Amino acid sequence: MTTQALLLTEAQKKDLHETALCIVSPGKGILAADESVGSMGKRLTQVGVENTEENRRQFRQILFSADDRINSCIGGVIFFHETLYQHSDHGVPFVKMIRDKGILVGVKVDKGVVPLPGTYGETTTQGLDGLSERCAQYKKDGAAFAKWRCVLRMNDTSPSQLAVSENANILARYSSICQQHGIVPIIEPEILPDGDHDLKRCQHVTEKVLAAVYKAMSEHRVYLEGTLLKPNMVTPGHSCSIKYSPEEVAMATLTALRRTVPPAVPGVAFLSGGQSEEEASIHLNSINNCPLNRPWILTFSFGRALQASALRAWRGHKENEKSATEQFIRRAEVNSLASQGKYTSTDGYIEANQRVYGSCYAY
Ligand code: 13P
Repeated sequence: MTTQALLLTEAQKKDLHETALCIVSPGKGILAADESVGSMGKRLTQVGVENTEENRRQFRQILFSADDRINSCIGGVIFFHETLYQHSDHGVPFVKMIRDKGILVGVKVDKGVVPLPGTYGETTTQGLDGLSERCAQYKKDGAAFAKWRCVLRMNDTSPSQLAVSENANILARYSSICQQHGIVPIIEPEILPDGDHDLKRCQHVTEKVLAAVYKAMSEHRVYLEGTLLKPNMVTPGHSCSIKYSPEEVAMATLTALRRTVPPAVPGVAFLSGGQSEEEASIHLNSINNCPLNRPWILTFSFGRALQASALRAWRGHKENEKSATEQFIRRAEVNSLASQGKYTSTDGYIEANQRVYGSCYAY
């Protein structure tokens, strides 16, 4: 007996493609505000704020109440499940606040990183059970796109072939399920910056990981035009003693992408991975000025590198809310310029900026 493959219709494909393009339209990137309860707790603790549902809501409100200046800088906001159903102080649903600005709503749909037996401390990401039903519900509740993060670590023996192929496969399964529900999947295979590896090694591993991801996408018949990639930039490990210029980081990053990411993918939105806000912006700007051809839009999907100043400005005090929102707007504007290769840093020296690195960071 032959059965029909669950293929997308032309209308579904068109819709997915248009949504993906809209999120990364020129000058726009993504605000990743989808920290889980535990990750948000770590952030809040750093500024002396207790990790309660109300405090998490307050901080998200600071970001979401930014005025119209962010409308041309942010194309999508990634929510955590809890935030998707929260409201402002005035009772306006956060989803409505974002959509009213013409910004698309996304949601983190993975259920976190878990150990991968058979490896030395490597991981996979769980959350496929019930994903189809959750996507259907999120779509009804206003989500246009989703995010799933896989994590790979780098040392002398990692990432193993098993971790690379398992994580690639799960990203492809997630992507095909999202697309069945008209949700654009953001594909995030994050290679952690922990370690003392140099730029070359990060480039090599990034190429291996991305090649495996797109092989799996092909096997699962994922419609690439209706996806976005969220990779790490190619950077040296945080304990590497060699310093590289933004131009070297840009060249390594684009070389890796050009060797592995099909031109059918509309956009690449980098994670910041614990770089300082300024460092991440300078690197994104250099990537957009790198003298290599590329078929994709190259922009940001930053979490820490869009929120760190705002969080430090806020520190849980009502009277700081306005200036915290201003800090966020400033970073959104800077990264919008960087996504067009038009940012000239006024802050000067990258190292002068506070790193927001956390070892083996869990989102
Ligand atoms: P960072 O930019 O803080 O690395 O986070 C982005 C993200 O969404 C990780 O999943």
